[in-house]
Amino acid sequence: MDLLKKKIEEEGIVLSDHVLKVDSFINHQMDPHLMKEIGLEFARLFKEAGITRILTIESSGIAPAIMAGLALDVPVIFARKRKSLTLTSDLYTATVYSFTKRESNEITVSKKYIHPEDHVLVIDDFLANGQAALGLANIVEQAGATVSGIGILIEKSFQQGAEELIAKGYRLESLARIASLKGGKVTFAEQRIH
Ligand code: G4P
Ligand code: NA
Ligand code: NA
Repeated sequence: MDLLKKKIEEEGIVLSDHVLKVDSFINHQMDPHLMKEIGLEFARLFKEAGITRILTIESSGIAPAIMAGLALDVPVIFARKRKSLTLTSDLYTATVYSFTKRESNEITVSKKYIHPEDHVLVIDDFLANGQAALGLANIVEQAGATVSGIGILIEKSFQQGAEELIAKGYRLESLARIASLKGGKVTFAEQRIH
């Protein structure tokens, strides 16, 4: 998606060979016009997929997910993150380990909001090692529902997540794919190398 790539080129800050800071339009300040276009792009990509619900994770997935939900005219659920849980009987839970932060979070979704007949689009801002996306997909599957696709804003193709999601058979659509952040420079990947 050219608009997102342009924004990354103009405002993204390469913090290291592994981390791209996008605080001016995704992770802190947000750009509503960009989010609207992202929602429309996901709707275009998934319009034939029979999506009935969108599932994302707090906090940075919520803005793009709500715009995609608006464009596809479906409800949007965000998984919550918690350190520990007491009552779990009415919740689907998955454990998500972050290699970046070296910590595990339990993510939870109420059983009320995903049903076996649902075709769910999973959305998140970044795809790094894929642990968040896999946790969300796991929750959809616990509900007996179908993961109809995974929509990502920024895929870091040099990390393992994309490969793993594709190997597991999920349809992955990333709006910007980064091949490398080496040398303080963003290099986009044009085609999937598989
Ligand atoms: P994974 O789910 O793909 O395995 O990713 P990882 O554990 O590495 O990601 C942990 C957090 O860091 C996530 O946000 C993720 O969106 C974010 N992240 C990963 N790589 C980058 C990057 O290069 N740049 C930025 N800006 N963020 C990155 P989170 O902790 O869930 O926070 P939030 O959704 O509340 O923002
Ligand atoms: Na995120
Ligand atoms: Na984040």
